[in-house]
Parts: sequence; structure tokens; C-alpha cells
Amino acid sequence: MSVQFTYGVRGTDQAVADAVIRFVNKKELVPGGTAGPIVQPQIDDALRGLYAKGLFKAEPEQTEILSTLGLYPAAHIVFVGLELEGGATGLRLAAAAAAKALKKLHAETVQVLLPSALLEGQAELGAEHAAQALTEGLLLALHVRQPLKREPKERFTLKEVAFVPQGAAVTAEDAALWEQGIAKGKLYVEGVTLARDLTNLPGNDLTPERLAYHAEELSRELDLEIEVIDEWSAAEQRMGGLLGVGQGSINPPRMIVIHYKGNPDSEEAWGLIGKGITFDTGGISLKRADGMQEMISDMGGAAAVLGAIRVIGELKPAINVIAVIPTAENMPSDRALKPGDVLRMMSGHTVEIVNTDAEGRLVLADGLTTAITRGATRLVDVATLTGAVSVALGTQATGAVTNNEELFRLVQKASERAGERIWQLPSYPEYKKQIKSDAADLKNSGGRYAGTITGGLFIGHFAEELPWVHLDIGGTAWLEASRGWEPKGATGVMVRTLIELVLHHE
Ligand code: BES
Ligand code: MN
Ligand code: ZN
Repeated sequence: MSVQFTYGVRGTDQAVADAVIRFVNKKELVPGGTAGPIVQPQIDDALRGLYAKGLFKAEPEQTEILSTLGLYPAAHIVFVGLELEGGATGLRLAAAAAAKALKKLHAETVQVLLPSALLEGQAELGAEHAAQALTEGLLLALHVRQPLKREPKERFTLKEVAFVPQGAAVTAEDAALWEQGIAKGKLYVEGVTLARDLTNLPGNDLTPERLAYHAEELSRELDLEIEVIDEWSAAEQRMGGLLGVGQGSINPPRMIVIHYKGNPDSEEAWGLIGKGITFDTGGISLKRADGMQEMISDMGGAAAVLGAIRVIGELKPAINVIAVIPTAENMPSDRALKPGDVLRMMSGHTVEIVNTDAEGRLVLADGLTTAITRGATRLVDVATLTGAVSVALGTQATGAVTNNEELFRLVQKASERAGERIWQLPSYPEYKKQIKSDAADLKNSGGRYAGTITGGLFIGHFAEELPWVHLDIGGTAWLEASRGWEPKGATGVMVRTLIELVLHHE
């Protein structure tokens, strides 16, 4: 990330920036209110005039761009509505809205004014978290898919961002907290950016082998140990689920394992398992053509795990993480898995295939077993597992299934800090009846009813009683339209939740 962030006042002998961002609260705009100056008397009058007419209401995410006409040392001011009670999510959203306005203005250097009411309003959050949230919002909103054109256009990025507190004196302590928050925000954005970029890659650019190559590059950069298990080695290790799903494709499957050992004295290790289907046609149970191209995002879980590892590897916390990515291409062919086939998984359990489109759980089952054999003691899997999760929750939340309420609460708290919604679904034992088979230990689909839950419980069967949480990002990994800090296409969802989870717990 080349954008330069600073905190504190800079010299005012020249234009301060291409544009200035000012967060405004409704209370500052009410006629006859007691609020003090905003930026400059005439500009303040103009803004209050717009408010009086109901044209700018300072609602969250609402922006108003005013030309300063020489009244202020920046060509434009972007006013953004902000509720002081909005917490980190409110700040992230406000910064994202501002960033989109900056893009319209082609404003590369920007000064972000921090009114004292904002700083006081965020006292509970703390300066570091406020700084991080604003940094994340600004940068994440600007990261959009780069199309592969004959004449590529450069994507708009910020060059300089200066956070400037208004009215209050800057103490060295404040400055240190802001700088820490900015640095952390930039780092988290790097993780999300990696996840989004990988997820947006077309299927012909990102085969299982190529995904393994990206994981190797990352491990080399971070100096982490990595195992890339090829189809021969996977056969030796009896990874029947991974091999079964991969067997229909000319592009062979891989099991990727990255080891992060930040606390060699501890027996505890997080197992983070990400679904890495580089393209999901459905296999012999072929999907309909409409929208199938979106299935390039069926490795969004793998991308989230790699994005998190990128940040963990940089921050070097005193914890252990085993990142596992089972990756395959789900294709129909003369060699492909068929309904009625029975697979023997790495754990020894057998599975009757009733639908080859329920492939994610098959590779993840071997992924969990791989994590366990490598020493994981707590498991979190992230997967674009079902279409059913969007029927239940739409694109507003990631669905969760667990066998351990305590671990789920940790994941939930992490997701709250990250501003990424998670909603737990019940895992009553009765649901397991739906995936009983007459031909094997389990079948790979329990039908349409409670599809997200039965899909999750299938994976949970391979957790071997270890605490486990399943995160179904089938509705949240890919968007039809941008919103807040998330672009159209790949969102990189769950990268920041995973980081928050492992960073705060041994
Ligand atoms: N990758 C899909 C789930 C998916 C679909 C995610 C659309 C995001 C958008 C998964 O492999 C799948 O096909 N699931 C089936 C399961 C069913 C056959 C039990 C589904 O949801 O239809
Ligand atoms: Mn599928
Ligand atoms: Zn899939």
C-alpha cells in the first residue's frame, strides 16, 4: 500500500490537499443550534442552508461535495454524515462513503478533519480503533475489481491522507495511538485486498495448482512453512473427499497446509480451513447456466484464510495457526464423481454421493482431518458452502453452525470488532438424520430443507469432538452491487474476523 497516512497538522503555506473530508453530525446543522464553526463561515452557511432545505440531512453515508471557490485551501470539501453513536462500523461506513466521493473528484491527496465532537464521541472506541476503522473504510471502499482489458486503466488510489484534529491540541500520546491504528488498518486492508484479488481471478487463471502457487509465494514472503500435497501424495494420505471432487478435472486438486508457529511452547493451535473450489460447475449434477460465472468465487473461503495468514504472518502474534486449503475444480467429465458413488474419506468415514454439486463439504471434511492430524485443537472453517444461506440471510450476514457455544462466542465477538455480521443457525441433533445414508456413514446432501445447517453438520462430523465453528459465506463472499466498504464482486469477507479471532485469543 503506497498511500501515505499522517496524523497532525501540516504546514498551511500551500493548498492543504485536493479535497478535505469533514464528518458532520446533524446537531451541527440545526438552525439556531449552539454548534460552533464547521470549516469556514461562508461554507458553513451554505451547508446549513442545504440542511434547512432538506437537501443534505447528514444521514449516515450521505455525502455532499461543495466547491470552495477560493474560500478554503482545497478545491472541494466532502461532507459526510456521521452518527456519533455509530461505533467503528459507523466510522468505517462514513470513511467509505467519503472515499467514493473522492474517487468522483479524482482527489488523490486528502485531509480528513477530525472534529472534537467526533473524537469525544469515539472515546469508548479509543483513538487507535477509530484510526483503524477510518483507514479501513477509506482504503477498502476504493479497492475494486481490475478488469483484464486490452487497454488497462489505472485504478484510482489515494496518495496522501492526513488526519487533522480540529480544535484540540495534538499530544504525542494521541499521535502514537493514531499511527498504530493507521498501520493496523493498512495491514488489515492488505489481507482483504489479497483475498478479493484472488477471488476475482477467473477460473482459467486460478486452478488448484495456481492457488497453491499463490500460497507458496505468500509463505515465502512471510517465511512460513508450507506443504502443498499433490494428487499422488493425497492418495497416499487417503484424501478420498478431495480426490473424488477433483477427479473430473484435468486440473488436479491440491491440499495446501501453511504452518504459523508463534508459540512453539503451546499445544494449542487454531485450525483455519478454507474451501478452495476454484470453479464449481456442479459436476455431473450440473448447475444451470444462469449466473454460473459467479462460481469463480467458490474459493472465497480459501482466500479469506490466506488473507488472514498474510496479516498474522506480519503481526507475528504468540499463537499457533494451521491454515488448510483443500482446493479442487468441480467438473463434469467421463472421469467425474457420479451420484451413487461412495467415497472413503481421509478420516475413514464413508460418504454416499447423492449430489455432486455438494462438493465443498467433501473437500472440507478432508481439510478438517488434515488440520487435526497436523495438531489443530480448535477449528474454524470458512466456505461458500450453500446457496441456501442466502435464502435464509440474504447478503446481510454470514451463517454459522457450531458444536461449541464458547468458541462460537469468540468468533461472534471477533466479527463484531470487524463489523462483519455473523448469524448462528441451530444445530439440533435431529438435523443429522437428514444426512444418514443406507449405503455409507453419511450422504453428502440432506435435501433442500435446512440446507445450510445440514451442510454445516456434515462438516462438523469430521471435527472429532474438537471445538468447531463453520462460517457459510455463500451469501456474503460475492456481491452484485457495491455497498459500504465492500465492492461489487469479491468482498474478502471474514478476513478481518479471522484475524480478530486469533489475535485476541491464544
Ligand atoms: N458453491 C455452491 C454454493 C453457492 C451457490 C455459493 C451460489 C454461492 C452462490 C455449493 O457447492 C453448492 O453447489 N451447494 C449446493 C448444495 C446442495 C447440492 C445440497 C446448493 O447450495 O445448491
Ligand atoms: Mn457445488
Ligand atoms: Zn461449491
